[in-house]
Amino acid sequence: MSMVSKYIWMNGELVEFEKATLHFLTPVAHYGLGAFEGIRCYATERGPAVFRLQEHMERLVHSAMVLGFRSLPFSAAQLSEAARLTVSANGFSECYIRPLIYLTDGGWNLNIDNGKPGVGIAVWEWDNYLGPEALEKGVRANISSFTRHHPNIMLTKAKIAGNYVNSTLAKTESVRLGFDEAIMLDPQGYVAECTGENIFVVRGGTIYTPSTMAILEGITRDTIITLARDMGFPVVEQPISRDQLYLADEVFVCGTAAECIGLREIDFRVIGEGKTGAVTRSLQSAFHDVVRGKHNRSQVWLDYVNTSLDVDVRPRAIVPR
Ligand SMILES: Cc1ncc(COP(=O)(O)O)c(C=O)c1O
Repeated sequence: MSMVSKYIWMNGELVEFEKATLHFLTPVAHYGLGAFEGIRCYATERGPAVFRLQEHMERLVHSAMVLGFRSLPFSAAQLSEAARLTVSANGFSECYIRPLIYLTDGGWNLNIDNGKPGVGIAVWEWDNYLGPEALEKGVRANISSFTRHHPNIMLTKAKIAGNYVNSTLAKTESVRLGFDEAIMLDPQGYVAECTGENIFVVRGGTIYTPSTMAILEGITRDTIITLARDMGFPVVEQPISRDQLYLADEVFVCGTAAECIGLREIDFRVIGEGKTGAVTRSLQSAFHDVVRGKHNRSQVWLDYVNTSLDVDVRPRAIVPR
């Protein structure tokens, strides 16, 4: 994977890729005190378009607020325009967009109020997060030996950089064991989510997914629930046990990076027919259409990059919310 681009947007301006650096003594690198987003931009007939951009930037601002920042230099609307500007300046037709709000200039005594938020947005070309064959064949997962955070320990609703130590422990262990992805249980022992995706179970034509109690409220999760209900599938949010995964007709995961991918095997047990199931395939297809401007919901969910910027992206003090 190449993460190279021409420019990275940092604190109000486009900076050449090589010059977009942070000092060794930036607190985010030591304590994980940052909030980030993962967003995708897709090629459409009307040029590149960013999927649910404003909602991602609102979640970023909310994550920063949950982390404890009391004011930010940019609003969600400004960050959305900055993201479009960054994609356009780099000339990508499809790319991943990675904004980060990070603690800088202080906070060494573990008080976030003694530092300041810095903001950057990088873009790079990134496809097939779970591998090129994942879409059709599905992938193999196991239940991680690591538990997902309790919300009183780390705030799962916020995409906080430090939260991803937990994801990295789980993912690394699963990949070393020969699996593609890790499924994490919540502190009560019920299925929570994967390291970078939310999880769904299909049984008897109904789609089940854990409630948002101990998970990241995925924007792809919301997209899949909406598309599934449009297609007439009942979707139920309820606790899911480990053995309910084993007995499912289909299990799939979804997230911005991975998109929508079936799990063909969990803990060495074959799920359904051992490949991407029919319900998962129909959702993959609707998802593919919606992100590429070919679905009746595309208009609301896509922000086209090549339309003029209508918000000033220069810094100013913004109080989150
Ligand atoms: C832990 C976790 N759960 C779920 C998701 C899916 O969220 P989204 O669909 O908004 O990308 C992600 C990815 O951002 C994640 O990191």
